[in-house]
Amino acid sequence: MTIIIKQMLAVAALSAMVSFAQADTLYDDLGGQQGVANIVDDYITEISFDKNIYPFFKNTDIERLRTKLQEQFCMVSNGPCEYTGDTMEAVHAGMQIDKSQFNRVVELLQNAMTSQGVSYADQNRLIQRLAPMRPAIIHR
Ligand code: HEM
Repeated sequence: MTIIIKQMLAVAALSAMVSFAQADTLYDDLGGQQGVANIVDDYITEISFDKNIYPFFKNTDIERLRTKLQEQFCMVSNGPCEYTGDTMEAVHAGMQIDKSQFNRVVELLQNAMTSQGVSYADQNRLIQRLAPMRPAIIHR
């Protein structure tokens, strides 16, 4: 084998290793730490402008909510975070949330992601990972 071909093979093997090590997570596709923070900020703004949803949050510590949502979205998208908030059941059980309120909150999150330029495919990936929490949140 000529030295040139050997070098080409070495470069190909190296670049394969690099692309494996950098395999994209949903977290990366959402824009990493800054992207997730921007989505959460927009989501909280969407909530605060929705006359049917905002009342649920009127006594909420918004800075805590912001931090916990950032942690949760980061964790479910395989980012380098741990969720340190309460369980979805403990947080939402007493709120008597119904299906249409749940769907509206999902829509507000989609609006936030659209404003932040997240593709529909990536929006669906995040929603799919949150969807299993639905039974812990709807109690009506
Ligand atoms: C996929 C759907 C949802 C997810 C993933 C989610 C996630 C969360 C998270 C992570 C927190 C922070 C928990 C903590 O402070 O430890 C939270 C709090 C809260 N959520 Fe949700 N939530 C969802 C749907 C909803 C819906 C549909 C409503 C109401 C219509 C709602 C109302 C609230 C309220 C009011 C709080 C603040 C509780 C407080 O003040 O202590 N959530 N949620």
